[in-house]
Amino acid sequence: MDLKKIVRPCILERKEYVPGKPVEEVTREYGITDIIKLASNENPLGSSPKAIEAMLREVKETTHLYPESLAPSVTEKLAKKFNLPADHFYIDNGEDGVITMLGMTFINPGEECVISELTFPAYENIVGKMDGKSVIVPMAPGYKQDIDAMLAKVTPKTKVLFLCNPNNPTGTLIGKADFEKILKTVGENTLIVSDEAYYEFVEDPDYPQSVNYLKDHPNLIILRTFSKIMGLASVRIGYLIAHPDIVKAMLKTREPFPVNRPAQAGALAAMDDHEFVEKVVRVNSEGRKQIAAALADMGFEVIAGHGNFVFADLKKPVAQVYEELLKVGVIIRPLNSQGAPNCIRVTIGTKEQNDRFIRSFKEAYNKVYS
Ligand SMILES: Cc1ncc(COP(=O)(O)O)c(C=O)c1O
Repeated sequence: MDLKKIVRPCILERKEYVPGKPVEEVTREYGITDIIKLASNENPLGSSPKAIEAMLREVKETTHLYPESLAPSVTEKLAKKFNLPADHFYIDNGEDGVITMLGMTFINPGEECVISELTFPAYENIVGKMDGKSVIVPMAPGYKQDIDAMLAKVTPKTKVLFLCNPNNPTGTLIGKADFEKILKTVGENTLIVSDEAYYEFVEDPDYPQSVNYLKDHPNLIILRTFSKIMGLASVRIGYLIAHPDIVKAMLKTREPFPVNRPAQAGALAAMDDHEFVEKVVRVNSEGRKQIAAALADMGFEVIAGHGNFVFADLKKPVAQVYEELLKVGVIIRPLNSQGAPNCIRVTIGTKEQNDRFIRSFKEAYNKVYS
């Protein structure tokens, strides 16, 4: 069998996606069980208790039944929450699922998509899978998406401009003025995708409330997820908010049952769990300051950022420090696979987890570099 003749060339040339190292893998490789994972921006407080209750009930009673295809109860609830008609929402198997379906719906082979350097890898990934062409734009100083440079690359040939706000992994924000400039500049046949996976964590008043711009910009697509703030990463449910014509096109692409029943029940219940959300935001905000201050004290270039993680440039390769941390059961995200071999991203944990990370990180760094 000649794989070169069987596999699509655009797939052959791709590398596999490397996710944050799972806890189970560290246990297998290092024989330890006392592990903290601060590598995938998961919720250190677990899941919304209301969601857990609803999901357990759902698993017990309806696991033998297919889910409702369009997750109508979640759609209705989102529509009320954002004060928009229900036809503005599309729900899928995590935001990852939404991004995949976006690609399948809109990106033709050879079409250009403009993407920042050092951002969420799923954009370049789906463009590649669709045999499109990623136009990667270097970042501005301070690890910000360089909006002017990105706009300069948008031409009538551009199908999608991908924005990550706040940006994963650097945590930096696109403020209102830049966001408005983007909307004004980009032509209506180029889609503007604003990935707002960390939207609920942002406390800066300069963060654009993108939903308010939908009315005048039918090419704007907003992505959100229940994985982060609600702690539902395992059941996989994310959504987009956009013009109904965008949603209609997506509905033709999607799989028959993309969102399982526990995910639908969990998301529905989580939207009423304001107490949990408030606690998550508070713990995150305190932890972000704690970790950012500790890393800055060590002399690194640190961006506390606006998400549930902190970014740091150590100005020295991180690979060995990462390995030393694994040995003591602390998993963080080295950014070598994203072309930033001197940089790390650390998810904010509980106070105890943050203390342990800071202690272990100092030891690991000193072991490697002193
Ligand atoms: C910016 C960004 N978008 C999307 C996702 C994927 O979210 P989901 O778990 O809903 O697939 C993540 C997950 O880390 C993310 O950081």
